[in-house]
Order: sequence, then C-alpha cells, then structure tokens
Amino acid sequence: MKVDVLLGLQWGDEGKGKIVDYLAPKYDIVARFQGGPNAGHTLEFDGIKHVLHQIPSGIFRNDIKNIIGNGIVLDPVILKKEIEGLQKYNLDLKKNLFISKKAQLILPTHRLLDAAYEKSKGDHKIGSTLKGIGPAYQDKVARQGLRVGDILATDFRDRFNALVTQHKTILDFYAFPYELEEHESVFFQAIEFLKGFQLVDSEYIINEAINSQTTILAEGAQGSLLDIDFGNYPFVTSSNTMAAGACIGLGVAPSHVGEVYGIFKAYCTRVGSGPFPTELHDETGKLIQKEGNEFGATTGRPRRCGWLDLPALKYAIMLNGVTQLFMMKADVLDVLPEIKVCTHYKTEEGDITDKFPYEITDKQFTPIYKTFKGWRQPLKDKKEYDSLPVEITDYITFLEQQLKVPVNIISLGPDRTQTIIRNEVVA
Ligand code: GDP
Ligand code: IMO
Ligand code: MG
Repeated sequence: MKVDVLLGLQWGDEGKGKIVDYLAPKYDIVARFQGGPNAGHTLEFDGIKHVLHQIPSGIFRNDIKNIIGNGIVLDPVILKKEIEGLQKYNLDLKKNLFISKKAQLILPTHRLLDAAYEKSKGDHKIGSTLKGIGPAYQDKVARQGLRVGDILATDFRDRFNALVTQHKTILDFYAFPYELEEHESVFFQAIEFLKGFQLVDSEYIINEAINSQTTILAEGAQGSLLDIDFGNYPFVTSSNTMAAGACIGLGVAPSHVGEVYGIFKAYCTRVGSGPFPTELHDETGKLIQKEGNEFGATTGRPRRCGWLDLPALKYAIMLNGVTQLFMMKADVLDVLPEIKVCTHYKTEEGDITDKFPYEITDKQFTPIYKTFKGWRQPLKDKKEYDSLPVEITDYITFLEQQLKVPVNIISLGPDRTQTIIRNEVVA
C-alpha cells in the first residue's frame, strides 16, 4: 500500500497529534519521520489529555505499530520519561513501539550547545525549544553523530566521550558554563532503558508494509514554514518538515507516497522568533491566544497569533503536493464579529503578490485582507457539516476556491469526538 503523509502547513502546532490519533484506526502503522522532542503533539479523548514528543500519535490505539524513523533526532532521556508517563495507560510499548537504529541520538551536550548558540545570537535568537535539535542534526550532516544502533556497540562509551570532548571545546569557546556529570549518568541510564525496546531497520518494516496490504500513516512534526529549506530561514527548525522529508526520514520511494494530508488552523500561530506577516499585536490577537489556549505544548511559551495567510498556505500546499486539507480550531473564532484572511501581500514598491517571498519582514510586506462575517455561535458540539452556520461554510468555500484542494475534515475542539468528516478521508 502507499504511504499517506500528514503534515502541518503553517508554523507547527496545527493539531497534528489530534488528527493522527483520530485517523490511526484506519492504519496499521504510524511513523514519525523528522524532528524530535521539539515537537509537542496533544491528544484528547475519554477525559485524557496527553502530550507526545517523540512517540508517534498512534500509540493509544491497540495493535498499531508506531515507528520512530531514521529521520528523527532522539533524546533517550526524554523518551524514557515519555514511556514512563504512558505506563498508567497499560499500553504494550515493547510490542508496539519500533525505533530505527539509524535515528540520531541527542546527547546532553547537544542541548547545551543549543543554549550556547542561542545565547550568542542575542536579539537575533531563533527561539529554539532548546532540545538540542539543531546541534544533533549538525553532527548528523557532519558525519560524526551517534545513532541509536551504536548503543549496542562495545565501544559506544568511547565514541560518546570523543564527541563530548569535541562539544566541550565549542562550549568553552562560547564561555558557556556546564556541569555534565549528573546529565551523563541520567543519559546512560536512559541508554540502558532504550536497549529494552525494539531497535530495528525500520526502512525494511516500512517497505515490507508497502509491498503488502499494510497501511502506513507518516506523521509530520513542526510545519512547512519551519522547513530548513523552504521556511523563513534562519528562523526554522533543522529538518525537512515537508512531504519529501517522509521519503528520506522513513526510506519511502517518492512513487510510494499516496495521500498528502495538509493541516492548518483557521488562523495562524507561531512560537519562537521570525517573521509573521499577519501577526496581530492587538486585543483580537490576545483573544485568539486565550480562546485557543495558544501556549506551547513543549515549552509552555505563549504562541503569537494572527490571521490566516493564504500566500503562505498556497506555498506550503504547492511544495507538499497536498491532496486533502483539514481545517483545525475554527471554534476558537466563535466569539469574533469578523474574521480576516490575507489573500495577498503588498510590497514596499506597491506591487501586489500572492507569492511567499525570499525574505520576509513586516516592513516590506503588508498583508491585504478579505473580511468575513463571524458566525458568533459555539461550534464545538456540531457533528454534521450541514448543521454549520452559513458564515463558516462560506469561509470554507472561499478557501477551497483559493487553494484548489478540498477541506475534508473540520476540527471543532481538542477532543477526538469534536471532528466533522465532510468527505471520507482515506483513499
Ligand atoms: P500539534 O503539534 O500539531 O500536534 O499541535 P499541538 O498539540 O501543539 O497544539 C494544538 C492544540 O490545539 C492542542 O492543545 C490541541 O488539544 C488543540 N486542538 C486541536 N484541535 C483543536 C480544535 O479543533 N479546536 C480547539 N479548540 N483545540 C484544538
Ligand atoms: P510541533 O510538532 C511549533 C520552532 C521553535 C523555533 C524553531 C526552531 O509540536 O508542531 P528547534 O527547537 O526546532 O531548533 O526550534 O522552530 N518549533 C516549533 N514550533 N511547533 C513545533 O513542533 C515546533 N518545533 C520547533 O519554536 O521557533
Ligand atoms: Mg505542537
């Protein structure tokens, strides 16, 4: 079977965890393909609210294989905590969780380096989650990273020490203070713990599934506008968050990609630094933040809020080859008398464009908005598309005309049950 890919089309936190958990029963395998513990994917069902960081969001569904793919940077300490946090749910993780031997390890010094680099940037900092993502991917590309499979080698500790010695030289260069002993002991406890799980050549599991009737959902992390190549560089993460990243991060040939599900919020948020053309600095922005509970699932930082940005969304749809759209969190806009959508940007020279520019700052690009009447009624209990107020169906019709992709799921609350399926989703 083909591999369906689900990914965020904005700056992350679109609601990927909720929808992967919702769709998981239609799949045999759910696999994460990039990122690491910078992700925070929230699932809510049966009165449970749980945030996953590295474990795929199919984990709460029995008998689904959950794969942490080779494209991931894995922090074993955080993984141990995550697994321990799941113990109360009686899930069989030793059976249902598979970790690629080719995934890269995040060392305690990667986290320190992340902090040292950010500090040295001063006002220009990226706003990293400080989980060591950038430095771990740096070592991967420099061909000196340690991989999950390496923990089984007899000289693992020597290789660890050699890399840490190198990291210490950099930390000393930045005059960044560190105390490593305790962190390293916790790290090695986590390494021993990790050995108790299924460490695999996940590309074989994936390709055997492709060659049989087994269905696979690839779960993206972050969002397209944080992509290392196509996001607002340098205010991006260090991986390819696009559909193409699923090919590399799992070992899937492009010809084996099926549906590409693109998730977006009915507005926009961004956590961390970097350009955000439609950001609201007023009371409406604060209201969206409050109604949407827009605080980071990983760092707790407030998320910046603004209107939906169609040039950015069109760009993400184009680069991902999105076949179906899922719109999240429209219920957050229930209280607003009017809702705006940015359709174009106006440049300093007065040109109008709907292209996402090479370099984007608030000064150079002024959003042009189309205004919609708000629905001003609660949507969270609506179960049928036909029962939605005309104001929101008009909004969706407009988006479909602009984006030329059907909006097949409308999510109207954090819970699994607060989901309207407009058209049957899985091909
Ligand atoms: P992810 O990183 O894409 O998985 O998203 P996060 O979990 O970081 O952030 C999404 C937040 O919105 C979480 O708190 C979800 O529980 C919540 N959420 C998801 N879908 C909806 C929705 O349709 N409406 C509302 N109000 N909240 C939602
Ligand atoms: P999920 O999967 C939102 C942002 C950080 C920062 C930039 C770089 O939950 O959608 P990094 O730690 O990767 O070096 O940070 O990327 N960022 C996210 N923003 N959701 C995420 O993940 C994010 N992961 C990283 O805030 O601006
Ligand atoms: Mg998140």
